[in-house]
Amino acid sequence: MKRLVINGGKALKGDIYVGGSKNAAVAILPATLLTEEPCLIENVPNVSDVRIIIKILKNLGAECRWEDNSTLYVDTKNVNSSKAVDEEVSRMRGSYYLIGALLGRFGQAEVALPGGCTIGNRPIDMHLKGFSSLGAKVDEEYGTVVANAENGLRGAGIYLDKVSVGATMNIMLAAVKAQGNTTIENCAREPHVVDLANFLNSMGAHIRGAGTDVIKIRGVKELHGAKGYSIIPDQIEAGTFMIAAAATKGDVTVHNLIPRHMEALTAKLEEMGIGVDEGEDEIRIYSNGEFRGTTFRTQPYPGFPTDLQPQMSVLLSLANGESNVYESVWENRFAYVQELNRMGAQIEVNGTAAEIHGPKKLKGVGLRCPDLRAGAALTIAALAASGKSYLTDIKYIDRGYADFEGKLRGVGADIEREEVETND
Ligand code: UD1
Repeated sequence: MKRLVINGGKALKGDIYVGGSKNAAVAILPATLLTEEPCLIENVPNVSDVRIIIKILKNLGAECRWEDNSTLYVDTKNVNSSKAVDEEVSRMRGSYYLIGALLGRFGQAEVALPGGCTIGNRPIDMHLKGFSSLGAKVDEEYGTVVANAENGLRGAGIYLDKVSVGATMNIMLAAVKAQGNTTIENCAREPHVVDLANFLNSMGAHIRGAGTDVIKIRGVKELHGAKGYSIIPDQIEAGTFMIAAAATKGDVTVHNLIPRHMEALTAKLEEMGIGVDEGEDEIRIYSNGEFRGTTFRTQPYPGFPTDLQPQMSVLLSLANGESNVYESVWENRFAYVQELNRMGAQIEVNGTAAEIHGPKKLKGVGLRCPDLRAGAALTIAALAASGKSYLTDIKYIDRGYADFEGKLRGVGADIEREEVETND
């Protein structure tokens, strides 16, 4: 078993560089199925979710190879199966994008239902309804989605009952080569929705309005390969490092980010009294440890991202006064609170709301990651705490952060990965 050993209490200082967006990459890689020409994709994060998608594409018959540590060559011309039901597929949440991409390529798809982090009930009913509206017959059998558009996919008007990143992007994948026009209303506006649209447009798709709540797609017959498309920076990785800098009373410049994507976070940090200097594609965060609590509610973009909620709650535990957090996207996103309270935090959870009493001095203990972002949050807590922490179940962190501890070491963190023997 691998674990992180963290000696806390050191202020992070220096420069840190953000990689490509995981949530964009897990949709853009399946999107390569929509063309029979090769694609060259840059700024691909080498995280385990991406490695799983690469494995799934290879199992389908695609040729995938890293040209350097962030540039991926993908050629799906030899893929002739629309069936992705291996164990890998159900191991990750983002594999639902294979349904939209395979439907778009072959007019049919058979895909094992996704797993992923256990941060609440994670239905994909709106994805499936969208495929039905486009003319596919969709069934769910024994944990597998079977979708079939015998007469081809046809453009349609689709209204999403709830703002969903996954449904917006998945329907986009299926609709780009459908016959006629598709309009998706009440869309998600996340940066990775825009990135997928830009990627598909660079292949000859006709998608307008990504980044607003109405996306219009004019179906095209063929897509060509993408040559050197660069994935946007990871907004959540950037935010995680920004919060880590503030929590450790540090002074860190986070590079390779898009400041506009970070606005919900920077506004809160400034309100708390934390130093924020915005540059063109970097943000410097500095703090002497004196900052006040605040209240926030997680919301779809441009609201405060749910994927930064656990990290922010750690920071609020260190802040002066009382803070309130309202989680409105996932119903089970406070699994880390028990661990954090064992370190000395005082957080009371009531359903999807948390009341945080600060400031608390955190102490290093043995910790377990309950999910990906909670794992990042507990790492921040351990970096800010006095003494040593041991963090297990770090496979969750590896799903979404490339070289997490290496990057943190680069700004002065005392953090090591070590292999330990287990009795089980
Ligand atoms: C994506 C991100 C995840 C992030 C989330 C919200 C990926 C791989 N994951 O997840 O990290 O936390 O966006 O920013 O990109 N819902 C339904 N029916 C559906 C689909 C969603 O009811 O068919 C609900 C969900 O239960 C949830 C809400 O809609 O309450 C938002 O989910 P969604 O935006 O779809 O999240 P994901 O795309 O799965």
